[in-house]
Order: sequence, then C-alpha cells, then structure tokens
Amino acid sequence: MADLYYEKLDMINPFVIASSPATRGADNVLKSAKCRPGAITMRNFGHGMGGGSFISPSADAMYRGQQAFHSHAVGRQLSDSVDSLDKYLEEVKKARKNLDSDIKLWVSVGHYNDIVKGGDWRKEWKREAREVVNAGADAIELHFNTPGVAIAGDRSFNYYNLVYTCTKMIHEEVPNTPIMVKLAVECTDTITAIKEAVTAGATAVGPTARWKAFYFDLDWKRTEARPGAGYGGTQAEPIVSFIVADARKKGFDIPMYAGGGCFSYDQAIRYIMAGSDMVQLGALACAGGISSCERLIKDTSKWMDEHGYKDLKSLKGDALTLFNMSDEFAKARQNRLGDAYQSTGVIEDRCIGCSRCEDVCFYKGIEVKDRKAHKTEGCIGCGYCFQVCPTGALFVDKGKILSEAFEN
Ligand SMILES: Cc1cc2nc3c(=O)[nH]c(=O)nc-3n(C[C@H](O)[C@H](O)[C@H](O)COP(=O)(O)O)c2cc1C
Ligand code: SF4
Ligand code: SF4
Repeated sequence: MADLYYEKLDMINPFVIASSPATRGADNVLKSAKCRPGAITMRNFGHGMGGGSFISPSADAMYRGQQAFHSHAVGRQLSDSVDSLDKYLEEVKKARKNLDSDIKLWVSVGHYNDIVKGGDWRKEWKREAREVVNAGADAIELHFNTPGVAIAGDRSFNYYNLVYTCTKMIHEEVPNTPIMVKLAVECTDTITAIKEAVTAGATAVGPTARWKAFYFDLDWKRTEARPGAGYGGTQAEPIVSFIVADARKKGFDIPMYAGGGCFSYDQAIRYIMAGSDMVQLGALACAGGISSCERLIKDTSKWMDEHGYKDLKSLKGDALTLFNMSDEFAKARQNRLGDAYQSTGVIEDRCIGCSRCEDVCFYKGIEVKDRKAHKTEGCIGCGYCFQVCPTGALFVDKGKILSEAFEN
C-alpha cells in the first residue's frame, strides 16, 4: 500500500477530521478516531449541541463526489454540556488519554464570538492555549474561517491584523506547540492572510471554504436550510485548490491543510496534487459518517498504488506544472487540441443524424444532411460539437493530445 505518512508533522496520513459535531467532546473525537485519520480537531466549546447539516441533493451523491452542497443549522439546537473551559479541559484530557498515540489531537482555541462580545478575550485565549496544552493537546487550531470571518466582515474587523496578532500572541504563549491557523476563502484575500499567519509563526495554514449563501427550493417555504454562513460543497475543492496552488507559486512552503468539499478520494488527491500537504474532512464525517472517511483514506492509498505514487511526497504538488505553465505554452497546448478538432471529421457509420452538433456550432462548421453530419470549411476547431455528440461520431483522444504537450 502507498505510504500516506506525512513526515513534517509526524502524521500517519494527511487527513484531519475538521472541527464540527463529529469532533465535539471526547466521545465524538474517539468515535471519529475509528477511521484512523492523521489528526482530529476538537471543536471549541460554547457552540451548542446538535444541529446537523442539510445536504442537497443527498448525502449519497455527496459521498460519490458528485455536485452537492451542505449547510448547517438544521435539527434541534440544544445547549452543550461542555460550556466552560474547565469542562473543555476534561474533554481534552479524556480524548488524549484514550486516543491512539499515533493520532494527533488538535484543539481549537478561542471563539469569534469572544471578540464580538468584547471584554478581555486575549487574556482568555492565552489562558485557554496554556491549559489545553497542559491537558494534552498536540497542536492548537485557531479559527479564522467563515462563519467567524463573515461576522468579522459585518463588524469591519481588520481581518489580516487579527490573524497576525492572534497567531503571534498564541505562538508566544505556547512557543513549543504547533499552531494551525484555519483561514477563510470568503470576504478576504487568503494569500494575504497566509502571509500574516506565516509571519506570526503559524506551523500550518488551512484555507477553508465555507460561505454565506442563500439557497432555497422553488417551493421555498419547504426549504430546510437557513440563509447565512456555513455553506459548502463539492464546488469548493477547485476554488480552494487554486488558492493552495497560488500560494505555492508565490513561494509559501508552509504546511497547508486545505478544506472544503472533500467527499471522495479523487478530491483529496487533487488537493494534494495542487500542493496541499493535508486535507480536512468536515461535512463528510458529519453526514457520511466515519465509515465514509475510512473508505476515503483507503481509496486514496489504493489510487496512489494503482498510479505509481509510492508516498505522499511524490504526490504532493504533482499538478503544479499545470498550474505554473507559461501563457505561451498554455496557448500552444490549447492550439494542438484545436487543430485536432478542426481537422477531424465525422465517423460516418457512428452518426445517427441527431443534429446536436449543428445546434451547438456557431460557425456553420458542421451541417447535417440526409441524417448524416459533415464538417465544412467554416470549422474553427472550438470543440463544442465533440462534447455533445452522443455516439462518438465526433471523437478525438483529448487526454492523449493534451498530455503529450507536456511529454514533448
Ligand atoms: C456542521 C458543521 C459544523 C462546523 N463547525 C465548525 C466550528 O465550530 N469551527 C470551525 O472552525 N469549523 C467548523 N466547521 C467547518 C469544518 O470544520 C470544515 O472546515 C469545513 O466544513 C470545510 O470542510 P468540509 O467541506 O469538508 O466540511 C463546521 C462544519 C460543519 C459541516
Ligand atoms: S451530434 Fe454526433 S451523432 Fe449527432 S448528428 Fe452530430 S455527429 Fe452525428
Ligand atoms: S469544432 Fe466548433 S467550429 Fe468546428 S464544427 Fe464543431 S462546433 Fe463548429
């Protein structure tokens, strides 16, 4: 089996079960540990209990990595018994004592609402940091992701300054403890935030996709989700992958744990190939359950085996060549495919005369006569018709043409 060990942070694999109901209190942390992730972030206290995720169209589609989104705030919202630092510390101790020693326990410190409420929250956060470390936290996680940042946006906090000062403050308080800084991709420039976190002494940064959103069924009164922050879904992964790759391109080599919309092994692999060292699993743990996370971890390793990646190091950033290609090369590569589209005719015996090709062509490049399609001089090679042809009568080996551009 491919080796998933992440050497830099001594993790058995790159997966982090993210702060959520699946990591609330010691019992849930221990339940989540059954999938044997590299790390688990214990959710900070004061959130309340219950409150599931609304998933559309279904949890099953989500697990298969198909287009799906989720949002919180459904179900009963009960007050949490873990509602003070003392009780939180008991949970941290219990979790660390019973957790397999090779799984890291990241513990969330602070809560955005503390800032909103005012008072001496800095003193509280420092105390919390010291005490969770004494209670057994392997690392501290600071949450500067949405919904917190959405609140910040509304209150005009200086986000980047907050990221810098809080990270620095906690780093100075517990200098020997890794600080994981979870960052928003909404309302902010994540690259600037990464820079602030790095300068302030963060050990790792976790660009994380959750958005404010307004979704409803057409039968809007029946809609379960609540407008506001806390939306995510499969659409997040390419967006966060861009941020990760962009940060790598700009020279940041800090460990990253990208998060958002990772529900199947291929999304996890793409995150790592885009340059992330680790990957968060949040809604999957809540909605797909720990068995789904276990399957995802196994499937990742299986895919790596089948594709000749023997370890994480060989996989990480492997797609960055694609991200970093020059405009000139990108254009030449695109033209190769365009040339193939332009010069390839219809395979007549496969054509059923459905006219879909003609329907999408805006250059009069193809016409259907007597229920057979024919290319014309007008074809510029845009490729639309090749994508809609249902029978393969219009076919070029796209993957081969594109990949050969790199090989040559
Ligand atoms: C129900 C639910 C509750 C969450 N609560 C928190 C939280 O308390 N603190 C936090 O930093 N992130 C929280 N998150 C965000 C997740 O930890 C994760 O970073 C985010 O959902 C993106 O990953 P995902 O798309 O895999 O869920 C929550 C997510 C869900 C689904
Ligand atoms: S879309 Fe394909 S099958 Fe349909 S008419 Fe065009 S070439 Fe023929
Ligand atoms: S490749 Fe584009 S321009 Fe050429 S026939 Fe097809 S749709 Fe028309």
